[in-house]
Amino acid sequence: MLYSLLFTFRNKSSERTKTRIVMKELKGLMHFICSVQFWRMAVLWTVSVLTSYWQLFVQRLFSQKSDFFTRHLPPTTGLTRPVCVITGATSGLGAAAAYALSKEGFSVVLAGRSSHSLSKTMKGILSRNKDAHVKAFQVDLSSFQSIFKFKDSLQQWLLDSNMHFSIQLLINNAGILATSPRLSSEGHDQ
Ligand SMILES: NC(=O)c1ccc[n+]([C@@H]2O[C@H](COP(=O)([O-])OP(=O)(O)OC[C@H]3O[C@@H](n4cnc5c(N)ncnc54)[C@H](OP(=O)(O)O)[C@@H]3O)[C@@H](O)[C@H]2O)c1
Repeated sequence: MLYSLLFTFRNKSSERTKTRIVMKELKGLMHFICSVQFWRMAVLWTVSVLTSYWQLFVQRLFSQKSDFFTRHLPPTTGLTRPVCVITGATSGLGAAAAYALSKEGFSVVLAGRSSHSLSKTMKGILSRNKDAHVKAFQVDLSSFQSIFKFKDSLQQWLLDSNMHFSIQLLINNAGILATSPRLSSEGHDQ
């Protein structure tokens, strides 16, 4: 009897804790939705993207001459490949851009914080593009220490592999959608 009472009490208290956590998360979410930043990002950003698309569409519809520039693709053979660095290249837009740029002939540097995801992404690119030139570096962009280590390793790799000692394209793609302020291990806002 006493055991069953204790068990029921414990269950109820853990449910109460869970409810409290969910309520706290919901409160944070509501706070974020009501913030100026959210509306600026969700509404103004969407409106400006749609406006740009509309302008492009109208221009294309009524303009006789083409406004498109011819693309000058980089040389794609041997050591002359241009170098492209993509941060957050292990998923989403970053991974898609990495594959697309490997197809364009870039030597693609994948920067990501999980070595497992990095090797998975690298394998994925190589399985779809046998000629891809890909290199992965582990870096946590919320840590300056990790960023400086990445910079040194990248410089060393460029030197060792006798490639262009410059980065032709940098895609600062890594990012998170944070609903509440988060501090990095070094005390900076993530
Ligand atoms: N998709 C959209 O609709 C949208 C709209 C507006 C802006 N964006 C921005 O566009 C970018 C790409 O979006 P997505 O949808 O492709 O996002 P995603 O799939 O979440 O990819 C973000 C990438 O950034 C990496 N990353 C996050 N924090 C990092 C850190 N501290 N160090 C190193 N890597 C880190 C993630 O690595 P892990 O896998 O290790 O977490 C992941 O590979 C993001 O910056 C996002 O905020 C996207």
